[in-house]
Amino acid sequence: MLPKPLWITNFKNYEQATGENAVRLAKIHEQVAKETGASIAIAVSPLDIYRVSQAVSIPVFSQHTDLADYGKFTGHILPQLIKKSGGVGTLINHSEKRIDPEILKNTLALAQKSSLIRVVCAENPDEVEIFAEYDPDFIAFEPPELIGSTGASVSSENPESIAESVAKSRGIPVLVGAGINSVQDVKTALELGAQGFLVATAIVKAENPAKKLREFVEAF
Ligand code: G3P
Repeated sequence: MLPKPLWITNFKNYEQATGENAVRLAKIHEQVAKETGASIAIAVSPLDIYRVSQAVSIPVFSQHTDLADYGKFTGHILPQLIKKSGGVGTLINHSEKRIDPEILKNTLALAQKSSLIRVVCAENPDEVEIFAEYDPDFIAFEPPELIGSTGASVSSENPESIAESVAKSRGIPVLVGAGINSVQDVKTALELGAQGFLVATAIVKAENPAKKLREFVEAF
Protein backbone atom coordinates (compact mmCIF):
# COMPACT_ATOMS: atom_id res chain seq x y z
CA MET A 1 0.00 0.00 0.00
CA LEU A 2 1.23 3.54 -0.63
CA PRO A 3 1.89 5.99 2.24
CA LYS A 4 -0.76 8.63 2.91
CA PRO A 5 -1.43 11.41 2.25
CA LEU A 6 -1.03 10.26 -1.35
CA TRP A 7 -0.72 12.72 -4.23
CA ILE A 8 -1.57 11.41 -7.70
CA THR A 9 -1.23 13.63 -10.74
CA ASN A 10 -3.45 12.45 -13.59
CA PHE A 11 -1.63 13.19 -16.85
CA LYS A 12 -4.82 12.45 -18.83
CA ASN A 13 -4.12 12.88 -22.56
CA TYR A 14 -2.75 16.39 -22.32
CA GLU A 15 -0.07 16.94 -24.98
CA GLN A 16 2.28 18.34 -22.33
CA ALA A 17 1.91 15.05 -20.39
CA THR A 18 2.11 12.34 -23.04
CA GLY A 19 4.93 10.65 -24.92
CA GLU A 20 8.34 12.12 -24.14
CA ASN A 21 6.58 14.94 -22.26
CA ALA A 22 5.17 12.30 -19.91
CA VAL A 23 8.72 11.17 -19.11
CA ARG A 24 9.83 14.77 -18.53
CA LEU A 25 6.88 15.49 -16.22
CA ALA A 26 7.32 12.15 -14.44
CA LYS A 27 10.95 13.03 -13.66
CA ILE A 28 9.75 16.33 -12.16
CA HIS A 29 7.39 14.37 -9.89
CA GLU A 30 10.19 11.99 -8.92
CA GLN A 31 12.47 14.91 -8.05
CA VAL A 32 9.84 16.57 -5.86
CA ALA A 33 9.12 13.23 -4.15
CA LYS A 34 12.82 12.85 -3.38
CA GLU A 35 13.18 16.46 -2.14
CA THR A 36 10.08 16.48 0.07
CA GLY A 37 9.66 12.82 1.05
CA ALA A 38 6.00 13.12 0.02
CA SER A 39 4.08 10.10 -1.31
CA ILE A 40 3.67 11.04 -4.98
CA ALA A 41 2.39 8.92 -7.86
CA ILE A 42 1.31 9.57 -11.44
CA ALA A 43 -1.47 8.22 -13.66
CA VAL A 44 -0.34 8.14 -17.28
CA SER A 45 -1.77 7.12 -20.64
CA PRO A 46 -1.68 3.32 -20.91
CA LEU A 47 0.52 3.90 -23.99
CA ASP A 48 3.11 5.60 -21.78
CA ILE A 49 3.22 3.19 -18.82
CA TYR A 50 6.24 1.26 -20.03
CA ARG A 51 8.38 4.23 -21.10
CA VAL A 52 7.57 6.18 -17.92
CA SER A 53 8.03 3.29 -15.47
CA GLN A 54 11.43 2.61 -17.05
CA ALA A 55 12.43 6.25 -16.43
CA VAL A 56 11.29 6.89 -12.83
CA SER A 57 11.05 5.06 -9.52
CA ILE A 58 7.81 6.65 -8.30
CA PRO A 59 4.56 4.64 -8.60
CA VAL A 60 3.04 4.72 -12.10
CA PHE A 61 -0.69 4.11 -12.52
CA SER A 62 -2.76 3.38 -15.58
CA GLN A 63 -5.76 5.68 -16.14
CA HIS A 64 -8.05 2.74 -16.90
CA THR A 65 -8.26 -1.04 -17.02
CA ASP A 66 -10.79 -3.34 -18.65
CA LEU A 67 -12.67 -6.48 -17.61
CA ALA A 68 -10.69 -8.51 -20.15
CA ASP A 69 -8.10 -11.27 -20.28
CA TYR A 70 -5.65 -12.77 -22.77
CA GLY A 71 -7.49 -13.68 -25.95
CA LYS A 72 -9.95 -12.07 -28.31
CA PHE A 73 -10.15 -8.67 -26.60
CA THR A 74 -8.95 -6.25 -29.29
CA GLY A 75 -8.13 -2.83 -27.94
CA HIS A 76 -8.77 -3.68 -24.30
CA ILE A 77 -6.36 -2.78 -21.50
CA LEU A 78 -5.50 -5.92 -19.53
CA PRO A 79 -4.65 -5.52 -15.83
CA GLN A 80 -1.87 -8.11 -16.11
CA LEU A 81 -0.29 -6.12 -18.95
CA ILE A 82 -0.45 -2.91 -16.89
CA LYS A 83 1.58 -4.82 -14.29
CA LYS A 84 3.99 -6.31 -16.84
CA SER A 85 4.48 -2.82 -18.34
CA GLY A 86 5.65 -1.52 -14.94
CA GLY A 87 2.39 -0.11 -13.63
CA VAL A 88 1.66 -0.56 -9.92
CA GLY A 89 -1.98 0.45 -10.02
CA THR A 90 -4.86 1.89 -11.97
CA LEU A 91 -7.63 4.44 -11.86
CA ILE A 92 -11.00 2.78 -12.42
CA ASN A 93 -14.26 4.48 -13.45
CA HIS A 94 -12.84 7.99 -13.89
CA SER A 95 -15.57 10.49 -14.87
CA GLU A 96 -13.95 10.69 -18.29
CA LYS A 97 -13.83 6.90 -18.68
CA ARG A 98 -16.84 5.53 -16.82
CA ILE A 99 -17.42 1.78 -16.50
CA ASP A 100 -20.83 0.10 -16.76
CA PRO A 101 -21.98 -0.28 -13.13
CA GLU A 102 -22.88 -3.91 -13.94
CA ILE A 103 -19.21 -4.78 -14.51
CA LEU A 104 -17.44 -2.34 -12.16
CA LYS A 105 -17.23 -4.77 -9.24
CA ASN A 106 -15.76 -7.53 -11.42
CA THR A 107 -13.35 -5.07 -13.05
CA LEU A 108 -12.04 -4.16 -9.60
CA ALA A 109 -11.75 -7.84 -8.65
CA LEU A 110 -9.81 -8.65 -11.83
CA ALA A 111 -7.41 -5.74 -11.22
CA GLN A 112 -6.84 -7.04 -7.70
CA LYS A 113 -5.91 -10.47 -9.14
CA SER A 114 -3.01 -8.71 -10.89
CA SER A 115 -2.07 -7.07 -7.57
CA LEU A 116 -2.77 -3.60 -8.92
CA ILE A 117 -3.46 -0.81 -6.44
CA ARG A 118 -7.01 0.21 -7.31
CA VAL A 119 -8.28 3.80 -7.15
CA VAL A 120 -11.98 3.75 -7.96
CA CYS A 121 -13.45 7.13 -8.91
CA ALA A 122 -16.78 8.34 -7.51
CA GLU A 123 -18.76 11.39 -8.62
CA ASN A 124 -20.73 11.92 -5.42
CA PRO A 125 -20.85 10.73 -1.78
CA ASP A 126 -23.55 8.15 -2.57
CA GLU A 127 -21.25 6.53 -5.14
CA VAL A 128 -18.47 6.61 -2.52
CA GLU A 129 -20.69 4.55 -0.23
CA ILE A 130 -21.57 2.06 -2.98
CA PHE A 131 -17.98 1.66 -4.22
CA ALA A 132 -16.61 1.27 -0.69
CA GLU A 133 -18.46 -2.06 -0.62
CA TYR A 134 -16.13 -3.30 -3.40
CA ASP A 135 -13.14 -2.82 -1.07
CA PRO A 136 -10.86 -0.80 -3.36
CA ASP A 137 -7.53 0.53 -2.08
CA PHE A 138 -8.58 4.15 -2.51
CA ILE A 139 -11.71 6.02 -3.54
CA ALA A 140 -11.19 9.25 -5.50
CA PHE A 141 -14.11 11.62 -4.99
CA GLU A 142 -14.41 14.04 -7.92
CA PRO A 143 -17.62 15.97 -8.68
CA PRO A 144 -17.43 16.07 -12.50
CA GLU A 145 -18.78 19.61 -12.86
CA LEU A 146 -15.64 20.96 -11.16
CA ILE A 147 -13.09 18.87 -13.07
CA GLY A 148 -10.78 21.14 -15.05
CA SER A 149 -11.91 24.33 -13.35
CA THR A 150 -9.18 26.76 -12.30
CA GLY A 151 -11.03 29.22 -10.08
CA ALA A 152 -13.27 26.84 -8.17
CA SER A 153 -12.64 23.48 -6.55
CA VAL A 154 -14.47 20.86 -4.58
CA SER A 155 -12.71 22.25 -1.47
CA SER A 156 -13.91 25.81 -2.05
CA GLU A 157 -17.33 25.17 -3.60
CA ASN A 158 -18.58 22.09 -1.76
CA PRO A 159 -16.42 21.16 1.26
CA GLU A 160 -19.37 19.41 2.92
CA SER A 161 -19.29 16.81 0.14
CA ILE A 162 -15.72 15.93 1.12
CA ALA A 163 -16.72 15.36 4.75
CA GLU A 164 -19.76 13.34 3.59
CA SER A 165 -17.60 11.20 1.29
CA VAL A 166 -15.14 10.49 4.10
CA ALA A 167 -18.01 9.55 6.42
CA LYS A 168 -19.45 7.16 3.80
CA SER A 169 -16.14 5.57 2.74
CA ARG A 170 -16.22 2.82 5.41
CA GLY A 171 -12.60 3.60 6.26
CA ILE A 172 -11.36 3.32 2.67
CA PRO A 173 -8.94 6.26 2.20
CA VAL A 174 -10.53 9.06 0.17
CA LEU A 175 -8.54 11.03 -2.41
CA VAL A 176 -10.06 14.34 -3.48
CA GLY A 177 -9.99 15.86 -6.97
CA ALA A 178 -11.77 18.35 -9.24
CA GLY A 179 -10.37 21.83 -9.52
CA ILE A 180 -7.80 21.48 -6.74
CA ASN A 181 -5.61 24.51 -7.43
CA SER A 182 -4.40 26.12 -4.17
CA VAL A 183 -2.62 25.22 -0.96
CA GLN A 184 -5.82 26.21 0.84
CA ASP A 185 -7.75 23.64 -1.21
CA VAL A 186 -5.29 20.99 -0.04
CA LYS A 187 -5.44 22.08 3.61
CA THR A 188 -9.25 22.24 3.61
CA ALA A 189 -9.59 18.73 2.18
CA LEU A 190 -7.06 17.28 4.64
CA GLU A 191 -8.86 18.93 7.55
CA LEU A 192 -12.08 17.30 6.34
CA GLY A 193 -10.52 13.82 6.36
CA ALA A 194 -9.17 13.41 2.85
CA GLN A 195 -6.06 11.19 2.69
CA GLY A 196 -4.78 12.38 -0.65
CA PHE A 197 -5.46 14.05 -3.97
CA LEU A 198 -6.05 13.28 -7.64
CA VAL A 199 -5.14 16.38 -9.66
CA ALA A 200 -4.52 17.26 -13.29
CA THR A 201 -4.82 20.88 -14.48
CA ALA A 202 -3.02 22.62 -11.60
CA ILE A 203 0.13 20.57 -12.26
CA VAL A 204 0.04 19.55 -15.92
CA LYS A 205 -0.78 23.08 -17.13
CA ALA A 206 1.38 24.91 -14.58
CA GLU A 207 4.07 27.35 -15.72
CA ASN A 208 6.37 25.60 -13.24
CA PRO A 209 4.99 22.15 -12.36
CA ALA A 210 7.81 21.40 -9.92
CA LYS A 211 7.17 24.58 -7.92
CA LYS A 212 3.41 24.02 -7.88
CA LEU A 213 3.68 20.37 -6.88
CA ARG A 214 6.15 21.20 -4.12
CA GLU A 215 3.79 23.88 -2.71
CA PHE A 216 0.94 21.41 -2.59
CA VAL A 217 2.73 18.47 -1.00
CA GLU A 218 4.52 20.67 1.53
CA ALA A 219 1.04 21.43 2.84
CA PHE A 220 0.65 17.75 3.84
O1 G3P B 1 -8.33 12.71 -12.27
C1 G3P B 1 -8.18 13.99 -11.74
C2 G3P B 1 -8.89 14.97 -12.56
O2 G3P B 1 -10.11 14.51 -13.04
C3 G3P B 1 -9.04 16.28 -11.84
O3 G3P B 1 -8.91 17.21 -12.83
O4 G3P B 1 -7.97 19.20 -13.83
O5 G3P B 1 -9.71 19.39 -12.02
O6 G3P B 1 -7.37 18.65 -11.45
P1 G3P B 1 -8.47 18.70 -12.50
